[in-house]
Amino acid sequence: MIKTIDPSQISQPDLHNILLTAVAPRPICFASTVDKDGNVNLSPFSFFNVFSSNPPVMIFSPSRSGRDNTTKHSHQNVKEVPEVVINIVNHDMVEQMSLSSTAYDKGVNEFVKAGFTQVPSETVKPPRVGEAPVSFECDVEQVIELGQTPGAGNLILARVKLIHINEAYVTEGILDTEKLDLVGRMGGSWYVRANNSALFEIPKPIRTKGIGVDALPEGIRQSGVLTGNNLGRLGNLERLPSKEEVIETLKSLDLKATSKSEMHKMAQQILEKGNTEQAMALLMHAETL
Ligand SMILES: Cc1cc2nc3c(=O)[nH]c(=O)nc-3n(C[C@H](O)[C@H](O)[C@H](O)COP(=O)(O)O)c2cc1C
Repeated sequence: MIKTIDPSQISQPDLHNILLTAVAPRPICFASTVDKDGNVNLSPFSFFNVFSSNPPVMIFSPSRSGRDNTTKHSHQNVKEVPEVVINIVNHDMVEQMSLSSTAYDKGVNEFVKAGFTQVPSETVKPPRVGEAPVSFECDVEQVIELGQTPGAGNLILARVKLIHINEAYVTEGILDTEKLDLVGRMGGSWYVRANNSALFEIPKPIRTKGIGVDALPEGIRQSGVLTGNNLGRLGNLERLPSKEEVIETLKSLDLKATSKSEMHKMAQQILEKGNTEQAMALLMHAETL
């Protein structure tokens, strides 16, 4: 059963919960800003992403409060001083980052409240977070206010001017996903941690053009064993194996499976170990049974 919802027919908090639970995990922008008097503010925003690498532009959105329609200090600050440092949050920082989201009064410095190290920036007035694995000094190019009612977002377009990377998170000159241990925001009070089994790789179909799931033989597409993920991986192959390749593969396998469905299960195990060509050859053989 599918429940279909017209967003105009449900309450703002209910809509907010659906949107934030479904559109997840979201990266976290830990934004440092200053007001016109130089007071420092530090707040997290998960309505955030990078949208362009040339020019390098990120967008985050401090919303109007769903409770009292007030605007966030970060939003007010970037209108007064159009600069921001976007700091990236990893697992070591997550509890302090959460504390910094407390609705402290204007002028209260959340670096101090949350116990983070304030490091002066080189090109902008807001300081960066010393504990962050990566920080981006940015100019705010545009603020797009999406409405004046509770929950309305305010898109802050930030162009990156300078990047600081802690070398502890670098391997052979490049930022290392496994070392970063980043966290993301889910719905409610849930977070996700990008480490260990949460991380996996899929070969990028950039230089190759996969045959597509539609080009797989019917018996493979309609397999009661293979999953959508298995079919996606098979469809990424550039061609089906030749008869000779199927024979060669069969010779290399210790083939105990007898029925078609047992062969599909064996092919699935081979696929999950990453040998797509071998799995495909076995599946083609199963098609001949
Ligand atoms: C992980 C996390 C993500 C958040 N994302 C957002 C967001 O995208 N937009 C928003 O308006 N508030 C978000 N909040 C809440 C703000 O951080 C909170 O309202 C904060 O007090 C705003 O501070 P400011 O008024 O000093 O700018 C988030 C809080 C946390 C802990």
